[in-house]
Order: sequence, then C-alpha cells, then structure tokens
Amino acid sequence: MSDNPFLSGNFGPIETESTVTGLKVQGEIPRDLAGRLLRIGPNPVAPGENDHWFAGNGLVHGLRLRDGEAEWYRSRFVRDDSVCDFKGWPHTAGPRFREDSSGLANTNVIGVGGKTYAIVEGGGFPVEIDYELETVRSSNFGGGLSGPFSAHPKRDPDTGELHAAGYFSGWDHLQHVVVSAGGKVLRTLDIPVPGRPMVHDCAITENYFIVFDFPVVFRPVEGGAEEGTLGQYIWHEEYGSRVGLLPRTGSADEIVWCEVENCFVFHPLNAYEDADGRVVLDVVRHPKMFASNSNGPGEGPPTLDRWLLDPKGGAVKEDRISDRPQEFPRHDERLVGKPYRYGYCGASGESGLFGGLLKHDLRTGETLHRDDGPSKQYQEPVFVPCSEEADEDDGWVMSYRHDAERNKAEVVILHAQDFLGTPLATIDLTVRVPFGFHGNWVPDS
Ligand SMILES: [Fe+2]
Repeated sequence: MSDNPFLSGNFGPIETESTVTGLKVQGEIPRDLAGRLLRIGPNPVAPGENDHWFAGNGLVHGLRLRDGEAEWYRSRFVRDDSVCDFKGWPHTAGPRFREDSSGLANTNVIGVGGKTYAIVEGGGFPVEIDYELETVRSSNFGGGLSGPFSAHPKRDPDTGELHAAGYFSGWDHLQHVVVSAGGKVLRTLDIPVPGRPMVHDCAITENYFIVFDFPVVFRPVEGGAEEGTLGQYIWHEEYGSRVGLLPRTGSADEIVWCEVENCFVFHPLNAYEDADGRVVLDVVRHPKMFASNSNGPGEGPPTLDRWLLDPKGGAVKEDRISDRPQEFPRHDERLVGKPYRYGYCGASGESGLFGGLLKHDLRTGETLHRDDGPSKQYQEPVFVPCSEEADEDDGWVMSYRHDAERNKAEVVILHAQDFLGTPLATIDLTVRVPFGFHGNWVPDS
C-alpha cells in the first residue's frame, strides 16, 4: 500500500494490457452506437512514491460497440520512451517537440480527420494510435505544430476546427493553435504572459478564443534549468487570475483580459456570447491548486461557477451555479461555444474526486445527482446525441464506472433524460480501469 493517494486503490496502476471479448451486457446497448468509447489516464510502469499523478505513462482504454453488441474492450500503453524501455519495446517513431521529449501522452484521446490521437499538454506532440489502440507514431500534424499541443482542444461544431492553448515551461508565452477538421495546422499565435502558467484547457465562443492565465506557475529548479525544463508547477498567490478574450483571428494585443478572484480552473463546462455581446463562461473552479498537495489535485472542493465577462473593458460578474464538489464537466458538443442548457459532471464522492454523476439544468437551476452507492464510482461522463438532429439532452451519457466491491470496471450507458433511472446498459469489462482523466466517443463514421 502506497502513502501516495494517487498510487493507491483504484488510482493504482495496472501492469498488463488487456483484450477482452465476449463481454456480458445487462440491458440493451442502443443499436445506433457504432464506434469506440475511449478514455485515458496515467498508469506509471515504474511508479515512484513521490510521483505526480499527472506524470504517469498513458494507458488508453477502449470499448467497441456495434449493432447493439459490445465487441471488445482493450487497454494499451501509449508507447512513450520509458514504457518502451521498461517493456523492451522499440521506441516509437515520429517527430518530437524537443530532443528530450519522452513521447508521453496520457490526458485525452480524440478523433481528428479519421485518425485517433492520445494527447497531452505542456511538452508532448500528439501520439497517433490505431483502431485497436496500438501506438502508431508521434505526430506534429504533418509538420504544422511548432510547440506542444493540448489535452483539451475545443471543436467548433460549425467548421470542425480545433482550437487549443499550447504552453511549455521554457516559454514566456502561450499559443493559440487552430487545427483543421482534417488535421492541418491553420494558425499559430504567440500570446505573451507574465509568468509560465500551467494552462490545462480553453474555451471558445462565436467570436472569441478564451485563454486561461491562473496562478499555478512553473518554478524552475535553481541552477539546473536554463531552458526552464526542470522544476515544478506550484501555486503562486501573487500571480493573480485572469481570462483573456482573444478575437478568434485577432492578434495578441487585441486580447481583453478579465481579472477574476484568485482560483484555479482545469476545465470549463462551456462558454457562449449572450444577446448583449457579453461572454458567459461556466467553469469548475478550484479555490487553489498545488499549494499544499504536490502529488495531485486536492485543495478544497471545486464548484461550478458562471462568469459573465464584458469584452468592453473586461468587467467580470462571478456567480456560483452549484456548490456540490464536482469535476470533469461535459456537455452536448454540438453546442460548443453556443448557448446551451445542460451540463453533465462527475460528482466527487466520499473517496475523493470520483463518485456519482451530476446533471445540471442551467435554465431551471435544477441539479440531479446520480449516486449508485459508495462502491460505484463514475469516471468522466461523455454525452452522445441520439442523432445529429436530436434535441439537446436527447442522447446517451456513457461512463466507465469502478465497482469497488468487485474491483472491476463497468461501462454504464444512461439515457440523459432518464438520468436517475435504470441504465439502458451496463457492460462488465471484467478488469479494473484505474481512475484517469478524459475520453470521448469516437464514432466509426
Ligand atoms: Fe483535463
């Protein structure tokens, strides 16, 4: 048993890759679901007691659904250099951001232009994986990426373009990176910042790219970091907290910076512009981050907040939507950057980050809390509409759920409009899936 909570219980890594067929299903899998429910998280091959949760080697998980059947579950390591060295596998081909980049990718997994990529922030290029999750090569999107990508690109539902915020500990700027639906880099804009902040996510609206600048800042190790590559990201109270409204095709000096009360945000739920041209930004707000806990998040309960930002002058109004502890916010991604009504989040539980699920109706203010008991712990929910034309919320919420009693994972498929009801389907994966970060439904078409 480790003293590091991020190496214990269901945070603990598993040692081997899995391929499971003949999966048992309780209920009925919607027949319109054809594709893979992918997710990824850190899974160190050689865990160290003081390791940060965010630094573990990536292990990608996939459940393949078709014709109402669960065809397979697979888990595969993303083959970064340390995984390959540990396992005795050849190093992965493809470009690296820097010569000393390890090729680690552990934070999100997305489909772009018919390919699948494991992605990470702050130092690594995307790593292409194949349909069955085997590592193919690292990628800079055909030569277009000039810096690290992000684990949280936002896909414009009208154009299919991805907007991301890139950063690197050795840089005095962030980057706004736009990638086409086909996977070609269309725009790279440097955004100067006063420090070297950790920038985990971003948001878009019809007219703006929203950049985060919060006080988790890189502190280099003395004497060993001329390029700023050795050190750690820690809370720096005096740095302050702000979000920038960058006109999507504008220059860095056009950014309107909006100062907010000091806090840290990993993830927005969504953002949009209201009828008066103000920006509504919904975020999961942490009061602090990496101030006293250096192994992972844990600085007081995160809340769901709404910030109203005025592009004319940068005034901000902050409101609390929900004070239940929560993280991993998701919504109907046909409405990225647009007015929307529903959000789905992980509800933090007795054992920390992972517990039940929340559904927020942002119009009525009602929140539904799905709690299947302390032994059932959901990871990030993913919303998939029943069809392209379906109303918002007419779709499925899917999530990998840890069953602590059996020490195994299940995938649960709910209808979003029957959020507290019996799941449409529960698929027993027969193996454990460690608590991790993010994932997506990647349809076959
Ligand atoms: Fe994230």
